[in-house]
Amino acid sequence: MDDVRSLVEQRLARAFDSVSPGADPVVRPSGRADLQANGAIAVARSLGHDPVDVAKSVVEVLDIADLCEQVEISGNGFINLTYASEFLAERLAAMAADERLGVERTDRSETVVVDYSAPNVAKEMHVGHLRTTVIGDALARMLAFLGHDVRRENHIGDWGTPFGMLIEHLVDLGEEEAAHELSAGDLTDFYQRARASFDTDPAFAERSRRRVVLLQSGDAETLRLWRVLVAESIRYFDLVYQKLGVELTDDDVFGESFYNPMLPEVVEELEAQGLLVLHEGARCVFPPGFTNRHGDPLPLIVQKSDGGYGYAGTDLAAIRYRVRQLGATRLLYVVGAPQSQHLQMCFAVASMARWLGPGVEAVHVSFGSVLGSDHRMLATRSGGAVKLVDLLDEAIERARSAIAQRREVDPNNAAGVDDDAVAAQVGIGAVKYADLSTDRGRDYVFDWDRMLAFEGDTGPYLQYAHARIRSIFRRGEVDVPDPVPPVLDDPHERALGLQLLGFPWALEETVATYSPHKLCGYLFEVASAFTAFYENCRVLVEDERQRSSRLTLCDLSARVLRVGLSHLGIEAPERM
Ligand code: ARG
Repeated sequence: MDDVRSLVEQRLARAFDSVSPGADPVVRPSGRADLQANGAIAVARSLGHDPVDVAKSVVEVLDIADLCEQVEISGNGFINLTYASEFLAERLAAMAADERLGVERTDRSETVVVDYSAPNVAKEMHVGHLRTTVIGDALARMLAFLGHDVRRENHIGDWGTPFGMLIEHLVDLGEEEAAHELSAGDLTDFYQRARASFDTDPAFAERSRRRVVLLQSGDAETLRLWRVLVAESIRYFDLVYQKLGVELTDDDVFGESFYNPMLPEVVEELEAQGLLVLHEGARCVFPPGFTNRHGDPLPLIVQKSDGGYGYAGTDLAAIRYRVRQLGATRLLYVVGAPQSQHLQMCFAVASMARWLGPGVEAVHVSFGSVLGSDHRMLATRSGGAVKLVDLLDEAIERARSAIAQRREVDPNNAAGVDDDAVAAQVGIGAVKYADLSTDRGRDYVFDWDRMLAFEGDTGPYLQYAHARIRSIFRRGEVDVPDPVPPVLDDPHERALGLQLLGFPWALEETVATYSPHKLCGYLFEVASAFTAFYENCRVLVEDERQRSSRLTLCDLSARVLRVGLSHLGIEAPERM
């Protein structure tokens, strides 16, 4: 189902094309009418004509009476268009009858890798992992909904020199105790004590170094111990994912170690292409355009001088694998802004090696930081990183009391709800929404009171709007009517209807720019349009036609909110 705006755009494009072949109508929403096309300006400039005359010629050949009831040309050559209400009504009925709410599956389905979350083994998941996990999960859900073959890839840090000391610490603690600490989430403590032994006890440090060699040479017992570390950490990550309600599972774990067997081939292939340069004993590629602050070319180290591989080599192997083996044509890296240069260099080298190229692109879906009220990186009182799981637990507790307060204002809504379930849905939803509704490029200040408010652009507000609509049906003991083309005589009905029809458009824009905040902004406007409608138009009226018309708008609003929130990974309780 084409959305209303695209249908109008297609007609406009045809009319513009007949006036000036290939001309872009340049359509955007307008405060004056519903849409405005200002493409006449550019055409007029190129032809040396008056914009108003160009607009007139366009309108003359424009065949749009079935879609728009008003077409006006403004003094500067803008074409203002107002949708015909019957057209909107008929589209709304079709949307209501469609399970996908008018969102079509793409006819250019791609295999898309979404690389997100990626915590490190035996290291705490802290608030820094919130954004990658939440944004990556939302994008993965939306891409899948649009019909892409989405591969969630959790590139966990499960390899490297620190594993020597971590394994030795595990041995010292005893496996059982170590497993317990790790799966219970005492990861920081575990890591720091290993580190402390390494720094203060020369014998431990020596054992650790030998352990690294054993690990790299594939010693069976060492690998077994390493697997304990990895498995227990993953078990803990899974708990956090469950609490957070993200779709990552064990099957999505493709840690750094997964690429170990491929590293020698990567080197060979780069070597064969003549891209490798020996630089201070290390094998490197110098992608053009990257320099340090002295202006010297920057190397991407593929293999270190001791023969080991690092973060960059692994990322190159991952790109090659994802393109060659998985057949991916789009690789999304949902990784914080500080890793921008690393990723851009990897992408550049992968392009030089022709793993990336026409039709196969890699995108750094970058994001800013989560800040405390002091506008510095969010930290605990003692200055440490905030454990993600603690933050989520606090969100749930705070949601519980926010809901209790809310019920004093609106007790009707609460009968028979499972308080624990709702507190979790609202608390987690609030944290996710606060994160997703900020333009990902920007930092944001983590503010409990703001994110948990039932008014304003918040998760609880949207969830509450949804639950309130559901309660109209419940309390009125009415069923959802078979969808009818709604009457849009009242301006609030029309505004709501128009807003609802924008859903496919909002989703597409969100995915095209990998910007969940756009979907958030859209849903907030739906909730606001619904509130205005509900305050001005009585729903349970006597008149049969008006009643089912308004109930159709109510139900569609609730569904757009619920489905929209689900794309963001946020649940919408029926009552709260
Ligand atoms: N484990 C890394 C970190 O914590 C993030 C990995 C991101 N993904 C990647 N393919 N490099 O910084």
